[in-house]
Amino acid sequence: MNRILVIDDEDVIRMLVVEILESVGYDVTSAESAERALALLEEAEFDLVVSDVVMPGLSGLELLEAVRARRASLPVVLVTGAGTYDTLSQALTRGAAGLVTKPFAHSDLQSAVADALERAARSRDDLRERLLAPTLASALANAIEARDEDLHGHCERLAALAVRVAELLDLPPEDVETVRLGAILHDVGKIGIPDRVLLKPSALNDEERRIVETHPEIGDKLLEPLDLLAGARPIVRHHHERWDGTGYPDRLRADGIPLGARIVAVADSVEVMSSRQLYRQPRTPAQIVEELRECRGKQWDPQIVDLVLGLIESGELQLSTDGLHLLEQAPVKLIVQGLSVLLVEDDDDHALLVTEVLERALEGAIVSRAGSVAGAAELSNGSTWSLAVVDHNLPDGLGMQVLDALRAEDPTMPIVMLTGQGSEEMAIEAFRHGASDYVVKAGGYLEALASRVRGLVTAA
Ligand SMILES: [Fe+2]
Repeated sequence: MNRILVIDDEDVIRMLVVEILESVGYDVTSAESAERALALLEEAEFDLVVSDVVMPGLSGLELLEAVRARRASLPVVLVTGAGTYDTLSQALTRGAAGLVTKPFAHSDLQSAVADALERAARSRDDLRERLLAPTLASALANAIEARDEDLHGHCERLAALAVRVAELLDLPPEDVETVRLGAILHDVGKIGIPDRVLLKPSALNDEERRIVETHPEIGDKLLEPLDLLAGARPIVRHHHERWDGTGYPDRLRADGIPLGARIVAVADSVEVMSSRQLYRQPRTPAQIVEELRECRGKQWDPQIVDLVLGLIESGELQLSTDGLHLLEQAPVKLIVQGLSVLLVEDDDDHALLVTEVLERALEGAIVSRAGSVAGAAELSNGSTWSLAVVDHNLPDGLGMQVLDALRAEDPTMPIVMLTGQGSEEMAIEAFRHGASDYVVKAGGYLEALASRVRGLVTAA
């Protein structure tokens, strides 16, 4: 049952709101002030807050802000008698999940609450899915690798190469992630292959080979009930198909083989050839290059083989007996004369660190800093910016307000939002307000910021 906290200073209205919500089965607690509500929020878990706007002490808008600073994912529905455009726009800017105007019908309040709860649940599911899928994939991959010591780290290494190839093919980020999951899971079906065959220290006979070749289908079936990993199934099923149509299990050929499976097929083979295996010596880099050239357009997609050969040639892809290894790409230093950057950040220490990072990432850039929404407006008066970096929480308001103002002036300028930890919802909101990208202030975020601003400036 969803728990709802209701705040209104007027007893009659508070009791009415409680009654309306209880009548449709919510578990409702009430408070007569925002201060009392904040204390209750510390003590217990709630799924949603319904608050009056005009109250003595903290107003509903101030309560909304305090709630969002503590738990950004907790939806707040405001009940307002004011009904003015100002309250409405302020409430939405500050992230209200819904707005009900007094006087209201019972159904107005009930549907505003139901909608807000549904939206919150959906964004929670999205988040869970994004966090859970990689964890689940790694756990399954570990289960395969645990049976065979030679395979240790194999999936992670080939996944790194597969991801790099997917990036070089300019696949959208969600497809790159699917390739990564598929690469990690490609051999998950080997769970169904008996040890006497899988771990046999000598070459396999025909019967044994036939058994091993069932692993893509077993893997595909294994993942069938897992919606979270559905995107990886075509990769798992088809990673042993061959470009010339002589592979298994479905004898698909050329473009008929899913792209992710074609990528993983090459990455898997390169990783297997370069690492030490049970009954076979690793091949030298020269032998691997020869094999890639030889089987280009027969076993493998020629375009993907060419990309991998390019990575070997440039030195980015290193092949050793420990398996393949991708070198970190050296950060590119962008020299951009006269680039003007607006930094809006109230914390002095953070501002100093971020300024250093921006100046290092974008050599020649001049960073101007404001510490508040008002300060940003003042600085921006008559200035144009090449880039803006805006903190979410400012002493006199929210970064969203700065975003709105900057976007009104310049619809295309790159803007990066800095948000606190665990505030995915804030990030979504930032995009809604026109942010180009966001960086969560957590360990290592300065490096992330450097690479994002470089990317944005290059793209611009
Ligand atoms: Fe396989």
